[in-house]
Amino acid sequence: MKRLDGKSALITGAARGIGKSFAERYVAEGATVAIADINLEGAEAAAAGLGSNAYAVHLDVTSQGSIDKAVTSVEEKTGGLDILINNAALFDLAPITEITRESYQRLFEINVAGTLFMMQAAARSMIRRGQGGKIINMASQAGRRGEALVGVYCATKAAVISLTQSAGLNLIQHGINVNAIAPGVVDGEHWDGVDALFAKYEGLEPGEKKSSVGAAVPFGRMGTADDLTGMAVFLASSDADYIVSQTYNVDGGNWMS
Ligand SMILES: NC(=O)c1ccc[n+]([C@@H]2O[C@H](COP(=O)([O-])OP(=O)(O)OC[C@H]3O[C@@H](n4cnc5c(N)ncnc54)[C@H](O)[C@@H]3O)[C@@H](O)[C@H]2O)c1
Repeated sequence: MKRLDGKSALITGAARGIGKSFAERYVAEGATVAIADINLEGAEAAAAGLGSNAYAVHLDVTSQGSIDKAVTSVEEKTGGLDILINNAALFDLAPITEITRESYQRLFEINVAGTLFMMQAAARSMIRRGQGGKIINMASQAGRRGEALVGVYCATKAAVISLTQSAGLNLIQHGINVNAIAPGVVDGEHWDGVDALFAKYEGLEPGEKKSSVGAAVPFGRMGTADDLTGMAVFLASSDADYIVSQTYNVDGGNWMS
């Protein structure tokens, strides 16, 4: 018996990176997975590699119409939604004196409003069906404390941790567990972009920031998406039924709380 046998999952931002690895592992554990992303072509490519238990869904988490359509399409395809992973997010970086309203609004719209209104749509669907469910939000060590150049992103992830607490308390009466994962530094295309931004603002060579953050992890290296998949399976499984409103650090020892 696989750990997510027969479960229907929707993973936002799963065309690449951590979300894509979650989709792969969920399919291996017996789930059917909607790979939902603003990059439909990428989502289709990711789904194509996973056989008939994965399918692509176009989703822009900043659009309520798109959110509602994505959840409805999962209901129609699989009969109901059991698991949501709110994984889609955007990163940006600038000193406080250079942050723009445009960057602030875009990050809060995707990382915070996207997470909230995806949770809302999923919870409405799960409550209608009456079988409970699991919601997993992707927070970050960035949400545990501020960083000099990363003010807005850190604030969005602190908001994700707070929303996880409130939503967990509100939804457990319906048998819906809401919890979050706080990764540290995870190698991949996302961090290639982060590295380039640090290079610009700190005058570093490409790759230098990555090397230094990796060396600073107590475990001894940056994380990989696969380092996170075990926690994503656990939180979606019945083993996590009694876990409510928590944010788990999966970061090689970077943060303790
Ligand atoms: N990589 C890290 O070091 C790290 C560390 C801590 C937390 N996290 C969090 O983990 C999650 C996944 O990170 P990642 O490294 O895989 O990121 P990534 O940038 O590689 O992937 C993000 C995905 O979200 C999609 N997306 C962007 N805007 C969207 C929108 N409006 N609607 C739908 N999809 C959209 C992108 O197309 C992309 O496929 C994020 O929430 C991130 O904040 C990552």
